[in-house]
Amino acid sequence: MLCIYGAYGYTGELVAETAVEAGLDPVLAGRNGARLADVAAANDCEYRAFPVEETGANLDGVDTLLNCAGPFVDTYEPVVDACLEHGVDYLDITGEIAVFEGIAARDGVAADADATLLPGVGFDVVPTDCTARHLADRLPDATHLELAFAGLSSVSRGTALSALESLGQGGAVRRDGRLLHRPVAHATRRVPFADRERTVTAIPWGDLATAPWTTGVPNVTTYAAIPQVARLGMRGSRFLPSAGLRLAKPLLQTLVERTVEGPSERRRERGRAEVWGEARDERTGESVQTRLTTPEPYALTADAAVAAAERVLGGDADPGFQTPGGAFGAAFVTDLPGVSGFDDL
Ligand SMILES: NC(=O)c1ccc[n+]([C@@H]2O[C@H](COP(=O)([O-])OP(=O)(O)OC[C@H]3O[C@@H](n4cnc5c(N)ncnc54)[C@H](OP(=O)(O)O)[C@@H]3O)[C@@H](O)[C@H]2O)c1
Repeated sequence: MLCIYGAYGYTGELVAETAVEAGLDPVLAGRNGARLADVAAANDCEYRAFPVEETGANLDGVDTLLNCAGPFVDTYEPVVDACLEHGVDYLDITGEIAVFEGIAARDGVAADADATLLPGVGFDVVPTDCTARHLADRLPDATHLELAFAGLSSVSRGTALSALESLGQGGAVRRDGRLLHRPVAHATRRVPFADRERTVTAIPWGDLATAPWTTGVPNVTTYAAIPQVARLGMRGSRFLPSAGLRLAKPLLQTLVERTVEGPSERRRERGRAEVWGEARDERTGESVQTRLTTPEPYALTADAAVAAAERVLGGDADPGFQTPGGAFGAAFVTDLPGVSGFDDL
């Protein structure tokens, strides 16, 4: 049986609806019993209300748990620990680098517990991770990967709060296998997405943690297409004192909690996202590129998370720490509804 934790959040509810439509009959979970009861009634599901610290006592009959409660830095540890203790497979929709790294560190424990740990089964990182896998399949000796996306135009409360968690932490790249700090928005480049060319800005996306696991490529840079004014704002924030950023954080959190709602159903149905990647072998100068077009990021997240949970429930993923492209191959993303690609260059 599948348990969806965080099922009354913006994305958790979408995931729960998608899982029910797929015939999975999940048990819904989260810490607020009243909000959970409403979502469970609307989807005709069983529910269990408990805080993350009590996950272990609530796993009866659960084979796979899909965590949708974020920021994940606040939730993943007790949930992962309980899953490992009870031999339950764990998935989530994090995009937080520290969370990927924390979960990857439990690879050996998970293998011993015969449990799969598969974080990042949303827009971050399914399309980019499968793109990385596709590129590495084409150029197995690649030394460098560059990954970019466009189309995250409207975000949910949880995504904005998760992004605020990293306020003031700057940027990052992966070099020679090591995660290195860089100033925020430290690089830009032009990228030929399938619909049109855009300037993209370096941001610390989850693939900095996952792509080396998926491909073995030790150098990774990740970019997003963001408006020029946002890029200038990000660069300007480098000069703000970190104490000032710390002081501003609670105010920004309150603002997000009061004002951010997430994309409307119409926006989810009509929106698209573009993904591009390049693998290079610095020793030979050889390089390959590819691109994908996907549904709107939250719509893709619900489909990808449920498809990944179905595959894990079906025994398709090995025990231990896994990445989407590593566990299921590059075609995992192109098999999702509404995804077109890979368009190789
Ligand atoms: N990978 C991707 O591409 C992708 C896509 C979508 C979302 N996400 C991530 O998913 C997370 C949720 O996003 P959302 O849009 O659903 O946000 P949301 O609407 O704010 O929902 C967040 C959910 O998490 C729960 N939660 C938060 N902290 C918790 C804690 N300490 N213990 C128990 N439950 C907790 C909330 O419960 P309460 O209301 O009781 O606090 C709520 O149910 C965010 O981190 C977001 O970045 C990732």
